[in-house]
Amino acid sequence: MKKIFSLASLIALLFVVAVSRHLASPEAGVPSFPNAAVVSVDPIASNVGVEILKKGGNAVDAAVATGFALAVTHPTAGNLGGGGFMMIYMADRVGQVAGIDYREKAPERSTARMFLDERGEVDAVKSGVGYLVIGVPGTVRGFWEASTRYGKLDWKTVVEPAVKLARDGFVVDSVLSRSLKAQSGRMEEYPEFGRVYRKADKSFYEPGETMKLADLAWTLEQIYARGWQGFYEGEVARRLTEGLKAGGGIITLNDLAKYEAKVRTPVRGTYRGYEILGMPPSSSGGITLIQMLNLLEGFDLGSMPRRDAGTIHLLAETMRIGFYNRAKYLGDTDFVHVDLPKLISKEFIRPFRDKINLQHATASKELGADIITREGGSETTHFSVIDGQGNAVSNTYTLEQGYGSRVIAPGTGFLLNNEMHDFNMNPGVTDTKGLIGTTPNLIQPGKRMLSAMTPTIILKDGKPYLVTGSPGGRTIINTVLQVVVNVIDFKMDVQAAVDEPRIHHQWMPDQIEIERPLEGNAPSLQALGDRVRTQATFGDAQSILVKDGKIYPGVDHRTRGGAAGY
Ligand code: DON
Repeated sequence: MKKIFSLASLIALLFVVAVSRHLASPEAGVPSFPNAAVVSVDPIASNVGVEILKKGGNAVDAAVATGFALAVTHPTAGNLGGGGFMMIYMADRVGQVAGIDYREKAPERSTARMFLDERGEVDAVKSGVGYLVIGVPGTVRGFWEASTRYGKLDWKTVVEPAVKLARDGFVVDSVLSRSLKAQSGRMEEYPEFGRVYRKADKSFYEPGETMKLADLAWTLEQIYARGWQGFYEGEVARRLTEGLKAGGGIITLNDLAKYEAKVRTPVRGTYRGYEILGMPPSSSGGITLIQMLNLLEGFDLGSMPRRDAGTIHLLAETMRIGFYNRAKYLGDTDFVHVDLPKLISKEFIRPFRDKINLQHATASKELGADIITREGGSETTHFSVIDGQGNAVSNTYTLEQGYGSRVIAPGTGFLLNNEMHDFNMNPGVTDTKGLIGTTPNLIQPGKRMLSAMTPTIILKDGKPYLVTGSPGGRTIINTVLQVVVNVIDFKMDVQAAVDEPRIHHQWMPDQIEIERPLEGNAPSLQALGDRVRTQATFGDAQSILVKDGKIYPGVDHRTRGGAAGY
């Protein structure tokens, strides 16, 4: 590997930024690529994916390379120490579909009550960031399964660009520089985080400077040379477990050795003639999305004015129902029984639909127990890929919060997740302060915590039509829902569908969150009995639409965003 990548990556960056600016500009009309595209939060990573496609790789090769690149260039969410979901559609294999579940797992020494204090309440310190909230990471194993089962190129070819980015450096932009500066307090608490992401004199990288990540390059080299074993066994595993143990963590060598990613059968639904492929548990995304679309199918949504209070009200009622059922039924199906066919059937949702009042908000309490949940920003990341053969990949992965637990085991250079957050932390206790204590998602050793990540592929006439997904905690499912209805019901092009301001309702708290451009609707919504709160933005839905043989990127600029293609 020659050390010319810094300059090459700078040139590539300038090119892709220019392309994505051009793509985003309304004057440019509706831009498209003729062959293939990668859309992610980060132009450097999108470009890595496209270079892999040009080397003869397929969409899965490009996705794996993009995912590893994001672990270097987008450290808030791109990761080796977290987990996620990859939905795959293989045109090459007569439309075979797969959902790779590489969600983190609870360590073998975890217990259902591990985050409670002596009074039986959730301990804010233990359950925040730090060593105890780390789940056993899944990303490297997930990418290995994707690459070796569905990729065309060899493993080393797809890992190599990330090794080069970490070792030779990449140019920091203003988004990354600002984001790291905002972590300065946490860097004092977790010194290895500060050591890795600041310069030797503890100053921050400014936009335009080159960041080299030597420890991360070393870890990536182990993965490059030895595949998944390079991460879950040997020196990386030793440094990781020893570093965690020193800080009070509980992940063992055995946890790492036992970790496996699961290839799952996607859940399938239909919506107005389109086929929806979603991720089954341990993600709640696919089931909840299909349920909400089943409900909306009973309304002539497309005839309603998109930004009208009545439309927002209907969408919010739909979301409330989806999130109520999510809290009630869903957890890791390797541990709990979930009747998937029933939950995604058209019959299941009918009685809920019949109770919706278009003139007045339903009280969330009437639907069930009182539950309040967290919202999310953009600290997860989603990317979409289509290749020249019509294969598609929709990938969402995360460290949970931005920069996860803030823990980096000395000498490894990669951040660990704080995904244990996503379990129900206080068994049986569901209260108005934010706890869900329902059974399906309680902590058990080896179990995967329930996720809202919703990587989605929508087929038209059996072929990929829309590839989408988003970060945003629980807002993810609703962001995806709105991108889908914007395209299918409101006939928007994919860029407009992504740009369109969003709303969010998650059953509890009983309120509609709206992005700022929708603020003017607040009085009308309040008149319908809805409580309304304004948020700056939700999500970051990096999407692709295929129409008439052309590939249209939907670049979400709420964080940054970059499309590359040819
Ligand atoms: O898996 C989940 O549902 C969450 N851990 C995702 C977290 C997230 O999206 C945070 N911010 N955007």
